[in-house]
Amino acid sequence: MTSDTFVPFALPDLSEGEIEAVVEVLRSGWITTGPKVKEFERRFGGAVGAGHCVAVNSCTAALHLALEAVGVRAGDEVVLPTLTFAASAEVVRYLGAVPVLVDVRPSDHNVDPAAVERALTPRTRAIMPVHFAGVPADMDDINALARPRGIAVVADCAHAFPCQYRGRNVGTLADVSCFSFYATKTMTTGEGGAAVTENPEWTARMQVMALHGISRDAWKRYTAEGSWRYEILAPGYKYNLTDIAAAMGLVQLARAGEMLARRASVAAKYDDAFGRLDAFELLGCPPDRTHARHLYVLRLVPAALRIGRDAFMDELKRHRIGASVHFIPLHQHPYYRDTFGYRPESLPVARELFERSVSLPLFSAMGDEQVDRVIEVVRALARTHGR
Ligand SMILES: Cc1ncc(COP(=O)(O)O)c(C=O)c1O
Repeated sequence: MTSDTFVPFALPDLSEGEIEAVVEVLRSGWITTGPKVKEFERRFGGAVGAGHCVAVNSCTAALHLALEAVGVRAGDEVVLPTLTFAASAEVVRYLGAVPVLVDVRPSDHNVDPAAVERALTPRTRAIMPVHFAGVPADMDDINALARPRGIAVVADCAHAFPCQYRGRNVGTLADVSCFSFYATKTMTTGEGGAAVTENPEWTARMQVMALHGISRDAWKRYTAEGSWRYEILAPGYKYNLTDIAAAMGLVQLARAGEMLARRASVAAKYDDAFGRLDAFELLGCPPDRTHARHLYVLRLVPAALRIGRDAFMDELKRHRIGASVHFIPLHQHPYYRDTFGYRPESLPVARELFERSVSLPLFSAMGDEQVDRVIEVVRALARTHGR
């Protein structure tokens, strides 16, 4: 590979299988929600160990439906980490509730259960852990805080398929668990998401609200067995997944183990290459859980480097390596800062981790030459800019 070849941050890993499955749906005459979505729900629910699965068109939609189903209403509080994507908190605002942002812990950037506990009030209706980068959060501690207080736990599992915590599958760790099948995620349907739960009432509510609040299985109204008559039970949303997307998802799901193995081997190569350099700190994964390997986050060590994170990112770009930062803490964004009065130092751990985090390319379709090129560039930067 020549040095001017761009290494993208992430690419979807699509084989002929996904392409054929989509073409088959296109030829079938039924392209929106239908039998493929139903089959995908059965299989994805099974794959994450959950009894019920509602497939929707994004993880954002799944989180919104989940919070609504567990009873989050205007004025309620939902506790979540600040080191997450926009989606986690915006869905709280959709419902007129208040996102209470808390700090994370340095070892793996997951939410700090002690910070969650300090944030609980009589108005707390839900806690939303986010399994950062693909490492499950401390779910036993979080559930132990929530259960006795009647607080719901809705997990943001956008990074976390597939993984396990203390031998339990990722779809069984919270009251409702929400997954993303966005193009850069560990499996994709282009755009897509799913909410899984053991609770049949929440499942029914999420199914109804995902399709305009109209009576269950409304998608069947254009089939031979469907009926034209429907009832609007609530002002719902338009969050249904298409059969085109579900067909892609079924093939991705079947390839999930193979794709994880590839990401894990890339991450192991990175660990090997960067672990002994003073310039970097690697993120840990506690031994009682497994890692879905969605993101590879490297922390720069200011004492060992003469350049900061922003300059490091510029250098990666100059060397044609796609990189990203996960995340700019929510409390530092204008909306949350100004609406809820946060200052950068309000949540100091996340702020400090953000300042020195870099996410390197990690995706299962990555070629060996691309991995080697990232390693070569990152090691060279550590040498050139080391103290
Ligand atoms: C932590 C987290 N939550 C939620 C989402 C939203 O996922 P989607 O794009 O499927 O709505 C993302 C997407 O990047 C994410 O990183």
